[in-house]
Amino acid sequence: MKTLTQSPTDPAFVQDPYPFYAAARADGQMHHWQDYGMAAAFGHSAVHMLLRDRRFGREVPQELRTEGPAHLAPFLAAEAHSMLDAEPPRHTRLRKLVLRAFTSREIAALAPGIRDLCRQLTGAFPDQPFDLLDAYCTQVPVITICRLLGVPEEMAPQLLDWSHRMVAMYQAARTEATEHAAAQAAQDFTDFLRGYIDDRRDDPRDDLITRLIAAEEEGDKLSTDELIGTCILLLNAGHEATVHALGNGVKTMLQQGWQPEWLAPEGIEGLVEEILRFDPPLHMFTRYAYEEAEVFGHTFQRGEQVALLLGAANRDPAALDDPERFDPSRPPKVNKSFGGGLHFCVGAPLARLEMQIALPILFEHCPDLKLAAEPEYSNSYHFHGLTQLLVTRS
Ligand code: HEM
Repeated sequence: MKTLTQSPTDPAFVQDPYPFYAAARADGQMHHWQDYGMAAAFGHSAVHMLLRDRRFGREVPQELRTEGPAHLAPFLAAEAHSMLDAEPPRHTRLRKLVLRAFTSREIAALAPGIRDLCRQLTGAFPDQPFDLLDAYCTQVPVITICRLLGVPEEMAPQLLDWSHRMVAMYQAARTEATEHAAAQAAQDFTDFLRGYIDDRRDDPRDDLITRLIAAEEEGDKLSTDELIGTCILLLNAGHEATVHALGNGVKTMLQQGWQPEWLAPEGIEGLVEEILRFDPPLHMFTRYAYEEAEVFGHTFQRGEQVALLLGAANRDPAALDDPERFDPSRPPKVNKSFGGGLHFCVGAPLARLEMQIALPILFEHCPDLKLAAEPEYSNSYHFHGLTQLLVTRS
């Protein structure tokens, strides 16, 4: 393994991390990333294998667990009950119960509502230049996840605020102020959900929170803390990435000159997969080694971490022809943007559905959509999303 140095907050890297990924991949599948102090997999096969390798996982190994600083307690409590930070058997149990409530039937049933929402939002676009990220890319996923869970839509701005403050904890630019803001947001979010879950217990409705309360697997149910952790995970994961998948996608389409056949019913699936492959909203996830394990020539010790660079794997020329080219007509296959293995994104079918509906409606309503300013990515690695997307309709 070579040692690579690249600050994740370096402005040039934040704007375009792909040259660094390409240089790293050209030198091998895996390297030591000095700035993170851990091994990092850049190649498609290394990322693919590590996502599935059961000798690695997301949950912190027992002997490395600490109580964490007191000021972070509410944030850590919410995470402690999230399937994303659990491994079997805890993960199996949580994921099974959630999937009982989050079925493909429930997801498909959201389609007409998403269509109406997209039409309503596009119909309200102003004639002057405006921020599409705010007016559309954010609204579609956040309102959809509110509707799915059964949280009042008027709560959307509040949920966005809690979520932004919590996910800032995973970003390279994190500071102590980030930690305090995240802890307060987690506390407020938890208090709200505790009351809301109690309401749904007394007054069940046709929504995901009610179904999660009722979900049962061989007599086993989610505890109130697990319900809260799961709702926070679904609400946060349910929009943060989709917002930027849409934003990055529209930016690429406008910069590359989009073609009507991409948005046709036969083309839309390929377009969405290519957007997710070409410029995904989440670039890096980490795993802990649970035992001594040799991978691509490196011997990991128990407790050692490895970073999986999804955004780099998606552009590996060993796995895909001409990967630096945006080509929605390519057969959709090599795409690590939703992860893989046990933690494969629970929301992938919903995110795809939202994008497959939102993009054609946007361009049907605004066929002359143009960029009104050069878009910039925000300094929030491993998230990879725009600060804003200023556009005009003519
Ligand atoms: C384009 C949008 C999205 C992207 C790119 C994305 C990406 C991912 C990735 C890469 C993971 C796995 C992380 C890892 O392996 O360490 C993941 C997990 C997860 N995602 Fe998504 N996601 C998206 C949308 C959603 C939506 C809409 C929801 C919910 C409605 C959601 C819920 C989840 C959950 C619950 C997990 C944890 C699964 C587990 O640990 O078993 N995601 N997502």
